[in-house]
Amino acid sequence: MDNEIDWGNLPFGYVPTDCNVRCTFRDGKWGPVEVSHSETINIHMAATALHYGQELFEGLKAFRGADGKIRIFRLEENAKRIRESAKGILMEPIPEDLFREMCIKAVKLNERFVPPYGSGASLYIRPLEIGLSPRIGVKEADEYLFIVMVTPVGPYFKGGFKNTNICIMREYDRVAPRGTGRWKIGGNYAASLASGKKAHDLGYSAVLFLDPKEKKYLDECGPANFYAIKDGKYITPKSDSILPSITNLSLQEFAKEMGMEVECRHITVDELEDVSEAGACGTAAVCSPIGEIDDLDTGHKYIISRDGKPGPVTTEFVRRLEAIRHGEEPDTHGWNTIIE
Ligand code: PLP
Ligand code: COI
Repeated sequence: MDNEIDWGNLPFGYVPTDCNVRCTFRDGKWGPVEVSHSETINIHMAATALHYGQELFEGLKAFRGADGKIRIFRLEENAKRIRESAKGILMEPIPEDLFREMCIKAVKLNERFVPPYGSGASLYIRPLEIGLSPRIGVKEADEYLFIVMVTPVGPYFKGGFKNTNICIMREYDRVAPRGTGRWKIGGNYAASLASGKKAHDLGYSAVLFLDPKEKKYLDECGPANFYAIKDGKYITPKSDSILPSITNLSLQEFAKEMGMEVECRHITVDELEDVSEAGACGTAAVCSPIGEIDDLDTGHKYIISRDGKPGPVTTEFVRRLEAIRHGEEPDTHGWNTIIE
């Protein structure tokens, strides 16, 4: 099957692989790690995952390096974050070692689906946890299933590394001010579907949400964090309604290494007038340069890129990220887990 995969033209979509890895929490403990060749799950029709949204997930990537080795990027950070998500919606936190073991196992067993070096594609690792116990009253489950599935993917935003346009839309919020935005749970994505579709139908690649309380500050950027370069500083929104992006953390390190100040703070919409670059960053989005931000309610267009090309800072961010992930530059931060 892998012979049929056109690695250089993979979309960000689902491609079947050989297997996935599963573990069940039952009677107060995690059971054995099992390898499954099934793409489906058989669960109770009253499972909390189906009725009360006890579902959470993660997203990380494995890369084939210039030296042929496979590297998983910042696995420990995803292991930490998935535990936070679990606590947020009363699910069973996955022990860090179990998360690590299952991600590595899923990659190893599907090694033939790790795209070749130079293809621009990677193996997306999607761990997910669901509540299994049947409940009709609104209550958390006591049995959980944790699955790590993998699938080879190409770029999230069409066209690869080129500017993308996004829009501000006040009609919808992704999350509530003291809601679930900082956790990676399915419900947040359900709440973003309608606005996302509207944005796509209008030709934009994502919605730049505003803070749900005052609609004054920039918040999450579709399935990614937002950052901008203003007066030579790296600025990125800080808020409880934003998922703490691991890519964003990495870019903040790069920015500092490049001699820039980093500000995590409220950013008002009108500050967009004065930014020299902006981007959407995330595991799927990587670091996607933004050309233009259109405010659909006021009709104002913020032209970020005057020449239509990605800016120098974003270009350097992507170069650094790719070089570390593919083993072309020393991994001075210790971000890679090399699969032996
Ligand atoms: N924000 C949202 C809503 C996301 O879905 C993602 C993707 O995981 C991100 C931000 C970026 O996070 P990360 O860089 O850890 O992938
Ligand atoms: C990721 O970047 O891993 C995400 O989860 C975004 C996604 C929902 C496509």
